Amino acid sequence: MENLSEKNNLKSIYNKISSVVPEIEWKVHAPLIEKINKLKKEKNAVILAHNYQTPEIYHGVADISADSLALAVEASKTNADIIILCGVHFMAETAKLMNPSKKVLLPDMNAGCSLASSITGEDVRMLKEKYPGVPVVSYVNTSAEVKAETDVCCTSANAVKVVESLGVDKVIFLPDHYLANYVQKNTKVKIISWQGTCIVHEKFTGKEIEDIRKENPDIKIIAHPECPPDVISASDFAGSTSSMVSYVKKNQPKKVLLVTECTMSDNVQVENPKVQFIKPCNLCPYMKKITLRKILDCLENENNEIKISHNIAAMARKSVQRMTEIGR
Ligand code: 13P
Ligand code: SF4
Repeated sequence: MENLSEKNNLKSIYNKISSVVPEIEWKVHAPLIEKINKLKKEKNAVILAHNYQTPEIYHGVADISADSLALAVEASKTNADIIILCGVHFMAETAKLMNPSKKVLLPDMNAGCSLASSITGEDVRMLKEKYPGVPVVSYVNTSAEVKAETDVCCTSANAVKVVESLGVDKVIFLPDHYLANYVQKNTKVKIISWQGTCIVHEKFTGKEIEDIRKENPDIKIIAHPECPPDVISASDFAGSTSSMVSYVKKNQPKKVLLVTECTMSDNVQVENPKVQFIKPCNLCPYMKKITLRKILDCLENENNEIKISHNIAAMARKSVQRMTEIGR
């Protein structure tokens, strides 16, 4: 039976998210949230959630919600015995690389990423043969096998800084073609790119953004750097998911469009009730594989543990640690 403080806690969670979660859905979520939060304490587990997770996860059970760079850093700092990563597979692998003694669990092992699956370790070895001596910068949206072939990783929050930290005139930049394009526009270092794309961000078009601006002349438009170049140039600002959150918090625009996975707008709206969000909805099918029921199952049974072979982990860890040392 739930006690009074649990009841009040559930009530305060629902008060927060009631504008984006219908009451009929809340009736299903509430008992799961209660069980997860109780078990999390009993097992000394921490829930790290990406900004694209649904509001009931983001506001209901996550201890930390963040972009991929901050999730990697938080994973390295935690004192918990178990890390439940609510996000996609490469994020859980990165958490394991950052803190190998912890049990890292992913609620659904099929939560992949179109960028991570666009390139293999063998592809990177082939590129290194083609461009001998040119350092490899890999987006964190890659497998541990690719990271093991990489000199230094980056995220959308620090891609330009990482590329420039190498002090060279040319880098191989993998696997996101559009992020590579964005970096190229912001540095003199020559970027050799791969043809990977994010299936969510590649759907946005410059025309769609211009049309939205015409209909809403007072709007601020913020895009993720995984978007095509015409989308970024039609926007007011580009940055990682956490920099988008900070932009809204700091600037409190009257009206805003976050050109990214659309669940994030719901999460940010809850914390910025005075801002009106325009939401064309592109969902990430991989991020949406994570549900409260799967989180509870994973926590109860401690299944879906991330394992990385010793040799790959030792090499991959170096490229991720180098990234976190460079910072934001
Ligand atoms: P961020 O690092 O900006 O959170 O992006 C991760 C991601 O997968 C975006 O599609
Ligand atoms: Fe990968 Fe795109 Fe989904 Fe992010 S939104 S996890 S880059 S497929």
